Amino acid sequence: MLVISLELACGPRPPVAPFFSVLPLGVRPTLPVPIANPITREKVELGRRLFLDKQLSRDNSVACASCHIPERGFTDGRPVAIGVGGAVGRRNAPTLLNRAYGRAFFWDGRAATLEQQALLPMVTATELANTHEEIVRRLEERPPYVRRFTRAFGTDQITIERVAEAIANFERTLVSGDSPFDRYDVLRDTMALSPLARQGLELFRGRANCVVCHDGLLFTDEQFHNTGVAWRDGAVADSGRFAVTRRWEDLGAFKTPALRDVALTAPYMHDGSVGTLEEVVDFYDRGGRPNPHLDAAIGPLNLTPDQKGALVEFLKSLTGRRVGT
Ligand code: HEC
Ligand code: HEC
Repeated sequence: MLVISLELACGPRPPVAPFFSVLPLGVRPTLPVPIANPITREKVELGRRLFLDKQLSRDNSVACASCHIPERGFTDGRPVAIGVGGAVGRRNAPTLLNRAYGRAFFWDGRAATLEQQALLPMVTATELANTHEEIVRRLEERPPYVRRFTRAFGTDQITIERVAEAIANFERTLVSGDSPFDRYDVLRDTMALSPLARQGLELFRGRANCVVCHDGLLFTDEQFHNTGVAWRDGAVADSGRFAVTRRWEDLGAFKTPALRDVALTAPYMHDGSVGTLEEVVDFYDRGGRPNPHLDAAIGPLNLTPDQKGALVEFLKSLTGRRVGT
C-alpha cells in the first residue's frame, strides 16, 4: 500500500489527480492508494459510470447505486439488501463513505481490497446476479465505454479487473469529514457541539466504553467482535467472521462498523435488525445479547435516559461533509 500525500497534488504535473485540494477535517490527510491501481481522474469518472449503470446486472434492473444510494450515505434504508428479481439478501448494505481507509471489506472482512470486493456483487445471486463474461461483453458493445476504458487504461481492452479497478478508484474518492464533532475535536470549537453531545462524547470515551471498539479517526478498530446481534434463542443466525477464519471465538463476530455519518445510514447492524440510534444505545445498555462468545467488552451499562439521549446526540454530531465526487 502506497500512501500518496495529497499536498503533492498541487504541483504542476500532479502524481495524484487533484480531486481534493485538502481532505476534510478529521480524516487522515493522506488517501491510501494501492501501487497497482493509481488514482486518476479518467478511472474515477469511468468508475462512477459503472457504479451507476444497471447494465451491470443480469436483467438491467439493479446498479451498485441501487443499494448504495449516494443521498443515504451510500446505503439503501432497508434492513437487508434486495437484488435482481427481488432476491432478498441476508445482510445490511454498509456505507461506502471513507472506505479508502478501510482494511477489510464486508461485514465478515472476506475481501482484502476494494478491487477484490467489487468483483463479488456482480456475480452474487441476491445482488447483480450477472457473470463477469457477460458484463465485459456488454461493455465491449458500447463505443462510449470502449473510449473511456482507453482513456483510463491506455488500451481499449476491457477486462473485469479493469472494471473493478475503476469502481475502486471511484469509491476511494468518497470521503466524508468536517463534522461538528471534528470542529470541536480538532479546531477546539466548543460551540460546534451542544452540551448534550459533549456529554455523549464523554460517555462514549468513558463510562459507556464504546471507544474500545469504535476508536481511531473512523471510530472503528477494524477488528471483529461478537456483540450478540446474530444470536437468537441460543442459536447463531449468521456465523459472521467464523466463515472466514473457522475459529470458534469468531462465531457471530462482525466487523466494527465506522461511525462517521451513522445518522444517515439506518437501519443498523449486519442484519439491519436495529431501526434507530436510540435502539442501538438501548441494545448496548442491556449488555448486547448474551451468548457463549460475547465480547468481554460488552455488558450492561445501566445508563439513565438522559445519558442514552446524550450518546445519540453525540452519534448525530458525526455527520460530515462529503468532498470529491
Ligand atoms: C442488492 C444490493 C447491493 C448491490 C447491488 C451492491 N451491493 Fe455492495 N453491499 C451490499 C451488502 C448487503 C453488503 C454487505 C454484504 C456482506 O457483508 O456480506 C455490501 C457490501 C459492499 C462493500 C463493503 C463495504 C465495507 O465497508 O465492508 C462495498 C465496498 C460494496 N458493497 C460495493 C459495491 C459495489 C462496487 C457494487 C456494484 C458492483 C455493489 N456493492 C452492489 C449490497 C449491495
Ligand atoms: C466489543 C466491541 C464494541 C463495543 C464496546 C461497542 N461496539 Fe458498537 N459495534 C460493534 C460491532 C462489532 C458492531 C456490528 C455488530 C453486528 O452488526 O453484528 C457494532 C455496531 C454499532 C452501531 C451500528 C452501526 C451500523 O452502521 O450499523 C452503532 C451505532 C454502534 N455500534 C455504536 C456503539 C456505541 C454507542 C457503543 C457504546 C455504548 C458501542 N457501539 C460499543 C462493536 C462494538
